[in-house]
Amino acid sequence: MIWSPTNFRACVFSVLLLLSVAPVVAQEDTQVGLVELGRSLFFDTRFSASRNIACATCHDPAQAFVDSRNSLTLAPVSLGSDGQSLGVRNAPAIAYLGDVPEFALNEDSEYLGGFFHDGRAQSLAGQASIPVLDPKEMAISDEAELLQRLRENQAYVSAFQTLFGTDALESEASAIVGFGEAIAAFERSAYFSPFDSKYDRYLNGQYMPTAQEQVGIALFFTPGFTSCNECHQVQALPNAMAESFSSNRYENIGVPPNPALVSSAALAPGWIDEGLSASEALSGLSPEERALQKGKFKVPTLRNIALTAPYMHNGVFKDLRTVLKFYNKYNAVTQESQTNPETGLEWRAPEVDENVAHDKLPSLFLTDRQIDALMAFLLMLTDERYEYLLE
Ligand code: HEC
Ligand code: HEC
Repeated sequence: MIWSPTNFRACVFSVLLLLSVAPVVAQEDTQVGLVELGRSLFFDTRFSASRNIACATCHDPAQAFVDSRNSLTLAPVSLGSDGQSLGVRNAPAIAYLGDVPEFALNEDSEYLGGFFHDGRAQSLAGQASIPVLDPKEMAISDEAELLQRLRENQAYVSAFQTLFGTDALESEASAIVGFGEAIAAFERSAYFSPFDSKYDRYLNGQYMPTAQEQVGIALFFTPGFTSCNECHQVQALPNAMAESFSSNRYENIGVPPNPALVSSAALAPGWIDEGLSASEALSGLSPEERALQKGKFKVPTLRNIALTAPYMHNGVFKDLRTVLKFYNKYNAVTQESQTNPETGLEWRAPEVDENVAHDKLPSLFLTDRQIDALMAFLLMLTDERYEYLLE
């Protein structure tokens, strides 16, 4: 090889390229390692007291990340590791949460982001150890026991040391941080948020919606019409890519109480779930300030909604169509629209009467055909891998 200034430059260039690429590769390796560790932790039943349930039990990837035990029986809440405890809220689909911001007050003085129906976990990583230590869920007795269960598995010990430092499993605090970061990395991965539904394929020009689906899209997004997107849209623009279908804000839409939940979880008659106002996230506020948040719950994503019954924080509705008819109650024009089709009785009064978002709720009475069209649109939000479940 003859040395010329040109190939000397080329040579220096390749060395520089190698130098600049090396840390990127290392970073990517770390990211892959973190996601893979998160994946193992998510499916591992060792993090429950009786080694019988994992995160994936109540958030089953085969069933759009809801409790597949419940979706068969349509039970409103999940069974814990002890085989008898029941929580008080419906396990949400935990997909499409990667871009949810940390819990905070926004510039319009509205609460935004955070995790759980009431926002009490500020971050995704911070959320992960809460179910592990909850006596009604995975029921691990304390942080020390979580650390011990992690240490049982040599693969976890090596992964924690590589990813978080040699002493990562020397203390409970660093073990919990690593546990949360790995699970959050997995939850942010494309496995939870593939963005490959018919709706995404339509935006990418790979799918032509049917006439009915097009009506559904128009109904959903047209301002001042159904107002669905007032709450179930994160982006300012209709048809924006990578839409999670939640504003990540908190609203009271006047959901009725669920008597089946009150009886199955043996709650006191008349028990109500106050949502955001009772959340630890607001523990620093005065009772008057908290009262303004009473009855508000985080707006859920509508992705995979056809597969995530029962609906609402308390699982009060079994059928997706009932949810749509419920919104009609605010614009009722007939006796029929005052009736819950699942009970044949008049809709129950809201669980919390205060703070119902009347100014934002749909102001259009939906006809059966419009409900069919909205249903067709909601079915479009099913990830490709679950489409067979709709047949
Ligand atoms: C026994 C059932 C059960 C188990 C096991 C369980 N969860 Fe949950 N999960 C729930 C319920 C119920 C809620 C809603 C609770 C609430 O809002 O108060 C929830 C909420 C969540 C949320 C909040 C979603 C949102 O939209 O804000 C995330 C994230 C989550 N779980 C992840 C996990 C992870 C990670 C694990 C394992 C470490 C796990 N869950 C184990 C039942 C369960
Ligand atoms: C004022 C804000 C707001 C508007 C407008 C709104 N929603 Fe909702 N929606 C919510 C909130 C908040 C919840 C969860 C309530 C709860 O759990 O108590 C919800 C729940 C749902 C659910 C059940 C989700 C689940 O996982 O349980 C569906 C489906 C739904 N909405 C569809 C729609 C459609 C379709 C429209 C328009 C016709 C609409 N929403 C309009 C705020 C809104």
